[in-house]
Amino acid sequence: MKFFNLFTQELAIDLGTANTLIMSEGKVVVDEPSIVAIDRRNGEVISVGMRAMQMHEKTHEYIKTIRPLKDGVIADFQAAEKMIEGFINMIGSRRKFFSHLKMVICIPSGITEVEKRAVFDSADHVDSKETYLIHEPMAAALGIGLEVEEPVGNIIIDIGGGTTEIAVIALSGIVCDQSIRTAGDEFTADIIDYMKRAHNILIGERTAEQIKIHVGSALHELESAPPDYDVKGRDMMTGIPKQVTISYHEVAQAIDKSIGKVEEALMKALETTPPELAADIYKTGIYLTGGGALLRGLDKRLSQKTKLPVHIAEDPLRSVIRGTGIALKNTHRFSFLIDRKSV
Ligand SMILES: Nc1ncnc2c1ncn2[C@@H]1O[C@H](COP(=O)(O)OP(=O)(O)O)[C@@H](O)[C@H]1O
Ligand SMILES: [Mg+2]
Repeated sequence: MKFFNLFTQELAIDLGTANTLIMSEGKVVVDEPSIVAIDRRNGEVISVGMRAMQMHEKTHEYIKTIRPLKDGVIADFQAAEKMIEGFINMIGSRRKFFSHLKMVICIPSGITEVEKRAVFDSADHVDSKETYLIHEPMAAALGIGLEVEEPVGNIIIDIGGGTTEIAVIALSGIVCDQSIRTAGDEFTADIIDYMKRAHNILIGERTAEQIKIHVGSALHELESAPPDYDVKGRDMMTGIPKQVTISYHEVAQAIDKSIGKVEEALMKALETTPPELAADIYKTGIYLTGGGALLRGLDKRLSQKTKLPVHIAEDPLRSVIRGTGIALKNTHRFSFLIDRKSV
């Protein structure tokens, strides 16, 4: 077995709209924003991940930054493939030569058959000999440590960058799900709008995301309030850079409508849950994961709305990659993995 391992390299990949993670031998070896910077003149990749993110919204005419995944789907195939290749090259030194590459790639559940095929093709281009896909909610459930194969229902909400995916899982399958395009990116866009309306200040995506992380809140009143946050941007009246200070109350107001949409989708998912599984969920509660799970007060707000216990996954930005890693070790056993033959 040991001998065989020498020639097999196994990678788990979480291809998220906001972040891509790669796990190899049980360790996360890549954890980078899903973005690529391309030279417009020759189409070559300048950088991927963090380095490309630093260029985002600061580019000149020869450089463009692309987030290839949008709203839970692959919006730009070519860029996506270049990005994946770039990330796999990052683990370069660890990449064993002459190895049999085996991958499990996590995909958003809204992905079409054509897109699935495109992901398989991208895997071929990096020379994967054995590729499987796994749906995001399933990977998240595995990563949280739920017993997905049992005849017991569990409900997961994964709030990523592009989509919020809500799924009820039992017996190795997704029983019912809701996917909406209201998630982290939308909250960020709400904050940009709010800053324009309330403070006459233009800010970029990255600044808005920092506001969300530092003073984001799903509740208008929090038990432990984060300190106010200084925001720099461009004054819309004068055109001159300026700074304003923002409190969490304002962010709660800015994203309130979008949080309402997440609540609505959750209610819909619960309504369509078969009664026996609903009875299970009454006992087990709701599992919250994805970067959005880190939003202050969101667990409490969803719990107030549903009267159910809400659990935040441990390290929510990594539930999916952990689960994808578990799937990678059990490809022979898990019937919910998608192989090339089934698309
Ligand atoms: N502390 C935080 N509070 C609120 N949102 C956060 C926080 N940290 C990260 N996020 C958001 O989580 C999203 C990324 O989550 P992730 O699960 O990695 O998404 P994806 O799976 O789509 O790549 C981003 O929109 C990011 O702004
Ligand atoms: Mg994700």
